[in-house]
Amino acid sequence: MTEDDDAENGTGAEARRPGDGREPATYSTQRYLAAKRTVDDRALDEGVLDRLARSVPDSPAVLEVGAGIGTMVERLLDRGLLSGAVTYVAVDLDAASVAAARERLPERARAAGYEVRRPADDPASFVFERDGAADGPERLTLTLRVADAVAVADAIAGANGDRVDLDDGTTLPAPAAGFDLLVGAAFLDLLSWPAVETLVGAVRPGGHCYFPITFDGTTTFAPADVVAAAGSDWNVSPATTAVDAGAGAGARAGAGHRDPVPGTAQYPADEAYFLHHLVELVRGALSSGPETADAGAEPDGDEGDGEGESSVDAGRVERWARRRHAAVARGELRYLTHQVDVLGRRRG
Ligand SMILES: C[S@@+](CC[C@H](N)C(=O)[O-])C[C@H]1O[C@@H](n2cnc3c(N)ncnc32)[C@H](O)[C@@H]1O
Repeated sequence: MTEDDDAENGTGAEARRPGDGREPATYSTQRYLAAKRTVDDRALDEGVLDRLARSVPDSPAVLEVGAGIGTMVERLLDRGLLSGAVTYVAVDLDAASVAAARERLPERARAAGYEVRRPADDPASFVFERDGAADGPERLTLTLRVADAVAVADAIAGANGDRVDLDDGTTLPAPAAGFDLLVGAAFLDLLSWPAVETLVGAVRPGGHCYFPITFDGTTTFAPADVVAAAGSDWNVSPATTAVDAGAGAGARAGAGHRDPVPGTAQYPADEAYFLHHLVELVRGALSSGPETADAGAEPDGDEGDGEGESSVDAGRVERWARRRHAAVARGELRYLTHQVDVLGRRRG
């Protein structure tokens, strides 16, 4: 297997070698989502997770939206947070991520001691079964589907049987009363408020929604290296809201903040890749971003002071990205972000 293959599927030895900060030759969303798992594990609020475990009934019906490659399913299994006979529906818009989840999850379930089978009446689903499980479900029926989460929730709200028909002619399990638990990790901040309201309509009265790793406005890299000061009218995607590294003081304040990647010489798991990927996300967003009032100054003084500039200079963004990639390779780059874990209960 080549390094590029590894980067593509995120499962190869190269992808898991700890502390190897080399800049990757290629980037893949699926590898990024896999690399993000350990960062998120550290960032999750344990108190909220405990409360979640106490709130969800035995044998729940769970709907996960924006499920990516399925790391939350893995996490819930690993941590024994669900019990009994679980119905788990996971949807994501991205077909490649859903395909990766189909590859990963049966493998992970086997590693956790589950038998894996495909039900004859629904070969698109998986059943994971384990006898006498002290922690975790005895059976988890998993349906993975490429679909728009909001459209799925909308269809669920109008359904009254135990399955819901989707526009593409497929059906999904959907309890008539609604789901016991709705999960959306690193997802809520991607939606408009009306879309969130539609989503929570898929939860039964008294049921819960769990939205961990909800981005809350600040992403910071350290040590400081300013490339651009975004104007207030600059509407970039959440992951790229802040590019200046500052001292990170603002990002340290407030509930839910974690310091996921310590500035150690070696990053754990595949977190060097995670950081390289983040740098690329920022570089891409800045390269295609709208004009700003003031492009700001680079602290090392290799450009002018930015006064009077009206756009982010492509060369400056490129050099910023090179420095950031080099900092990852040296094990120096740190990433600080403000995220909130939301646990809600639907009245009823
Ligand atoms: C930041 S990723 C998080 C993935 C996963 N929850 C995790 O934490 O690893 C956001 C995911 O939401 C998916 N997504 C975005 N909009 C969506 C929508 N309207 N319906 C379903 N999935 C969506 C993307 O394809 C992506 O996989």
